[in-house]
Amino acid sequence: MILGVNVDHIATVRQSRKGIDPDPVMAATLAILGGADGITVHLREDRRHIQDRDLKMLKDFVPVELNMEMAATKEMISIAKKIKPDMVTLVPEKRQELTTEGGLDIKSQKKNISEAVKKLHVSGIPVSLFINPDFKDISLSKNIGSDMVEIHTGMYADAKGKRQEEEFIRIINAVKSAINIGLTVNAGHGLNYFNVSKIASIKGLRGLYIGHSIISRAVLVGIERAVREMKEVIGRASLHKQLNCGGI
Ligand code: PXP
Repeated sequence: MILGVNVDHIATVRQSRKGIDPDPVMAATLAILGGADGITVHLREDRRHIQDRDLKMLKDFVPVELNMEMAATKEMISIAKKIKPDMVTLVPEKRQELTTEGGLDIKSQKKNISEAVKKLHVSGIPVSLFINPDFKDISLSKNIGSDMVEIHTGMYADAKGKRQEEEFIRIINAVKSAINIGLTVNAGHGLNYFNVSKIASIKGLRGLYIGHSIISRAVLVGIERAVREMKEVIGRASLHKQLNCGGI
């Protein structure tokens, strides 16, 4: 299972002073030394963290998968077509939100999202859609022609006890149905060192996309070690699954 490390929050610290430190490009390089299989950045319309320069430099420096998260807007599509990241993840974006809230509302945005997918495909860029663990959204994602989906794990991460178990079952069912109709499936949002194991034990998942918890730990122990420790937790859960003692 691959781990894509989101380095947006390194840029958040830099933008708090609008200076040059810390540099998300340098952080990405160290995350890769720690075992990151991919680097993710979200170029937001308001440029609150990642800047255009970061994306350009990451494209040149990053030898692993570069995943560009973006809203399905004309501006972002044109940037993606110029930079050509290894993949694009389309996400909903609201100016006031602290982080991405919920998956895409594919039903009401179908035309816009489907046109974005087509335009990105013309440039040979694979597209993933960030969606809630909901069968209707999975099926619409397939109809629209997306290559992958990323199942939103935020509700699972925020829930406790029985509610968390229910959210977990929703995610398992979503992963199964997405795989059954031929989509490649990833998951992410809100995952940390304590709640990631259950998600990493789900059969058929291609990868996990994690940002905040890794960067938070990195502030204390360094990014290379923070990534390595997350890889170890995910690796143990995957091994457990392979040995067939708990894989779901
Ligand atoms: N996946 C998507 C689509 C996201 O928007 C984010 C947050 O930027 C993440 C994963 C990572 O979430 P977190 O920072 O909570 O790990």
